[in-house]
Amino acid sequence: MTETLLIIEDEALLGSELARFFGKRDWEVTIAQTLKQAEAHLSKQDIDPLVVLSDMNLPDGNALDFLERIKDKTGSNEWVFLTGYGSVADSVRAVRLGAYDFIEKPCELERLNLLVEGAARSARAQRRLQQQAAAQSSRHTVDALIGSSPQASALRSMISQMARVPFSSLIISGETGTGKGLIARILHCTGRRAQAPLIEINCAALPRELLESELFGYEAGAFTGAKKRHRGLFEQAHTGTLFLDEIGEMDLDLQTKLLKAVEDFRIRRLGSETEIAIDVQIIAATNLDLVQKVEQGLFRGDLYHRLNVMSLRVPALRERKQDLDELVPLFIADSNSKSAKNVKNISQRAWDMLKRYDWPGNIRELRNVLERCVLLATDENFPEQWLQLPNISSKPAAAQTQQTENGIFLPLDGSLSLQDMEKYLIQEVLNRTDENVTAAARMLGTTRETLRYRVQKYNLKCKN
Ligand SMILES: Nc1ncnc2c1ncn2[C@@H]1O[C@H](COP(=O)(O)OP(=O)(O)OP(=O)(O)O)[C@@H](O)[C@H]1O
Ligand SMILES: [Mg+2]
Repeated sequence: MTETLLIIEDEALLGSELARFFGKRDWEVTIAQTLKQAEAHLSKQDIDPLVVLSDMNLPDGNALDFLERIKDKTGSNEWVFLTGYGSVADSVRAVRLGAYDFIEKPCELERLNLLVEGAARSARAQRRLQQQAAAQSSRHTVDALIGSSPQASALRSMISQMARVPFSSLIISGETGTGKGLIARILHCTGRRAQAPLIEINCAALPRELLESELFGYEAGAFTGAKKRHRGLFEQAHTGTLFLDEIGEMDLDLQTKLLKAVEDFRIRRLGSETEIAIDVQIIAATNLDLVQKVEQGLFRGDLYHRLNVMSLRVPALRERKQDLDELVPLFIADSNSKSAKNVKNISQRAWDMLKRYDWPGNIRELRNVLERCVLLATDENFPEQWLQLPNISSKPAAAQTQQTENGIFLPLDGSLSLQDMEKYLIQEVLNRTDENVTAAARMLGTTRETLRYRVQKYNLKCKN
């Protein structure tokens, strides 16, 4: 698709040379010789340039002042500046204002072309994000949070209230599968920043270095493998929301850096000297007890307080089983439409089983179990035999496991989830090694680092 390039340049000769050059490269070029002309185009929106290539000093003013003034009014585009020789201060300011890059005049056209191509890629990515945001907003209203229990109603009204105020950060806590991700999306999509991007990252999914470079971005050459400049998630979320999922798993070191960023509203790409102002709202989610982690020295207290401007605790499904009345038919209908089934009769026995169970995996577990049942259904009746819910509560309980001297007995009747088994296994080995991680790691055939990560994850006690 032919995209528009707006060139702001008062030197007629240079302007037409650039226009010719980019015209041949599939750009639809518009030239403005003054800022006034440029503003007329941008504010009338008769063109929607993907990239703006601008001289620094125009007859009617400085292009950086201009960018600062109209930044929020133009669509989403990237700016590349042509600067005079040695104007370092200008270039620093350009980057601070969010310009894609700058290049000194006179410059080789091929080099300029590379920059413009990079800017175009980045602008396209931003536009895609915005489109996704718009598509998401329609789905994520507060009514997407289903449930008639008093707890669910209270959650909905809290979410509505919070979405109305411009909070800078918020922590959502709750067990796995309770709907924290869903709530984060509703908060963004019904809030003041709905038109801007919602950027999500799972802090537990990436190793520390990768998480850092993803969050803060980097300059080309910042480390081995950093071939091109990369805008971090903070920058991508600018004016929108950054959703930090599983924040409790973030490395302490990186927490320090995060704290600085959220306090100063500034970040610095790895390998860069220049700080960039960012305006993001942070939603952090955790299924760990952060207060306890702070007490154990595993989470920074100051970061916790900084993020915990507002907080929302999502109750476990077992605390609001009344919600099953709406959730079960909803998920069955969902699965019906996905698998072309028509399950609609749920026996009293099936309801009893659903209500008796504790749902340690909460709403996600419920959805998965129901999906399995619908898939295996042969007629309109809900196949309760496929529920396969254990009768006992599935909290890890040592009483349900037996031990022998050289091994451990783990029941395979569904009473322990895989995670619970792992936790139990590690706990048991730590007990046998007098809480010595090195010895425990040897016994489990793993490294100390891996084991220590899991010890932290499950809040277990160890000595070294
Ligand atoms: N009240 C609800 N109404 C409808 N769907 C829900 C509700 N709560 C959760 N869900 C759905 O259940 C699934 C799990 O929710 P979600 O992923 O938001 O949980 P989570 O708390 O983020 O879990 P985790 O801690 O594992 O990341 C999602 O598909 C979500 O849309
Ligand atoms: Mg989640």
